[in-house]
Amino acid sequence: MPEQLTPSPAAFAEFSPLRLEEPLARWTTLRVGGPAEWFFEPRRPEDLAALLTALHKAQIPFRLLGGGANVLAPDAGVRGAVIHTGALRRIFLEGTALRCWPGATIQQTVRAAAGNGLHGLELLMGVPGHIGGALAMNAGSADFGIWDVVEEVTVWEPEGPWKARARADFDPQYRNGNLGQAVSLEILLRLEKSTKVEVKITQEALLRKKNQTQPVTLFSAGCAFKNPLGESAGRLLDQAGMKGVSVGRASVSTLHANFVVTEPGATSADVLTLLEKMASAVLEYAGITLERELVVW
Ligand code: EPU
Repeated sequence: MPEQLTPSPAAFAEFSPLRLEEPLARWTTLRVGGPAEWFFEPRRPEDLAALLTALHKAQIPFRLLGGGANVLAPDAGVRGAVIHTGALRRIFLEGTALRCWPGATIQQTVRAAAGNGLHGLELLMGVPGHIGGALAMNAGSADFGIWDVVEEVTVWEPEGPWKARARADFDPQYRNGNLGQAVSLEILLRLEKSTKVEVKITQEALLRKKNQTQPVTLFSAGCAFKNPLGESAGRLLDQAGMKGVSVGRASVSTLHANFVVTEPGATSADVLTLLEKMASAVLEYAGITLERELVVW
């Protein structure tokens, strides 16, 4: 018998439920993407850490997937493992802080803050995705990112034990948590005491504004490009005439020009070609090279 080089997925089953050839279109907000060869959904942070260590040792490539709200998965799918954080949903209240598992949704967390009269997460109202993904992307608004309220993150790293690290150990940037190979297992968000009513009023106002300015009822991955320093990618794309432009079943939102929206039947290739058109239009119109926010797998 020849030696089997690739361990079978069953070797990892003790750490997590597993699906084979799971369509990524189901798990991404753009609703495109082919199958993930192995699709894990660990249930506890310690299981996530053990799974990561086992995959790393076996040299199986892996990707983390949160709410799929900022990912463009290829039509051909991905080989290796995708680890979905959807089952890691706990949030614990600790005084004026929230301790979150990475699969807690951003909206669950924002509502937990409001429910406990805690101020600091309002600007994440209406943002799709999971807290782990939010940390990886430094999700937020134009001038706020979740890292502004992070106190401590317990991370898994390829070499070395997993441990809690203080905010000062990280170097997040605009729309980039800069985590490198580290994977968050538990996140402590430091908030401030306010009142339920006050937090709710701010949240509702922000949600109303978002509903007026963003295509929240359509399939999209939020803003496709980062804002260039001192500029708005949405405004530039709008001025460059991109609203409503489409490729296949993907189009630029007519409400906000930095959102690509998809219809059933859209492909990853449609989205990619459209992104290239958008970037070229802004380069031609304003001489500015847009940087993608959307993570292309
Ligand atoms: N604008 C246009 N046309 C458009 C879109 C925008 O003229 O098609 C103008 C607006 O009128 C406004 C300016 O551009 O004067 C900025 O627009 P907006 O307030 O919508 O903010 P943004 O910079 O486009 C940023 C974040 C969003 C976040 C909003 C609101 C980035 C890339 N985008 O958008 O984040 O929701 O602020 O806080 O930082 C995301 O990152 O995925 C995202 C959606």
